[in-house]
Amino acid sequence: MKKNELRDTFFKKAKKDGYRARSIYKLKEIQEKYRLIKSGDTVLDLGCSPGSFLQYISDIIGEKGLVIGIDILPTPPLNKENIKTIQTDIKTADIKKIMETNSVESFDLVTCDIAPNLTGIRETDDKNIYELYEAVKGIVQGSLKKGGIFLLKSFFTDTFKPINTDLKTIFKKVTIYKPEASRTSSPEVYLICQGKIQGP
Ligand SMILES: C[S@@+](CC[C@H](N)C(=O)[O-])C[C@H]1O[C@@H](n2cnc3c(N)ncnc32)[C@H](O)[C@@H]1O
Repeated sequence: MKKNELRDTFFKKAKKDGYRARSIYKLKEIQEKYRLIKSGDTVLDLGCSPGSFLQYISDIIGEKGLVIGIDILPTPPLNKENIKTIQTDIKTADIKKIMETNSVESFDLVTCDIAPNLTGIRETDDKNIYELYEAVKGIVQGSLKKGGIFLLKSFFTDTFKPINTDLKTIFKKVTIYKPEASRTSSPEVYLICQGKIQGP
């Protein structure tokens, strides 16, 4: 299937299924294969707007779970008890304060679906991807429980190898996964990081 056809298929499917973005089918595919999200989990979703990951995670974690979403843009309200959203830049977010306010000691799972604005200029894009990674890593180190799981959207550019290598020092296992729902021509890829070695 061609790039635009694949995008249109998932866009239409998301609309029909009541999801806010077609990104959901990437998370769904990963969840069906790796079972990262569990009932009762406390989850942090970085780059959450418009909210399809939040919708899907909320259904799996159930009423005993909580998902906190952060985005630099507003997230239209989802009106579910187990979803909280915060509008802020993850590069400056006070994650400890966010945890304290929501009575969270640590997260079971952190997901990050952020894509920096890509300019097409390789050096600039790689610098932005790495800067964003450093900010996300800081959040993960300070908030994800020992043994916890981190799902990161990454990119097949020169940043890929150093990021992958770095994550292997923080997690016992790092798996590279390119979902079917991700356009083949897109450099995006997901890193599934399991078994955080140290606690926050
Ligand atoms: C691909 S979208 C996420 C879609 C989301 N997973 C969903 O299912 O609806 C990426 C999001 O990352 C957000 N983002 C980009 N840079 C950010 C930053 N520095 N801090 C917080 N959010 C950021 C964008 O505003 C955008 O909403």
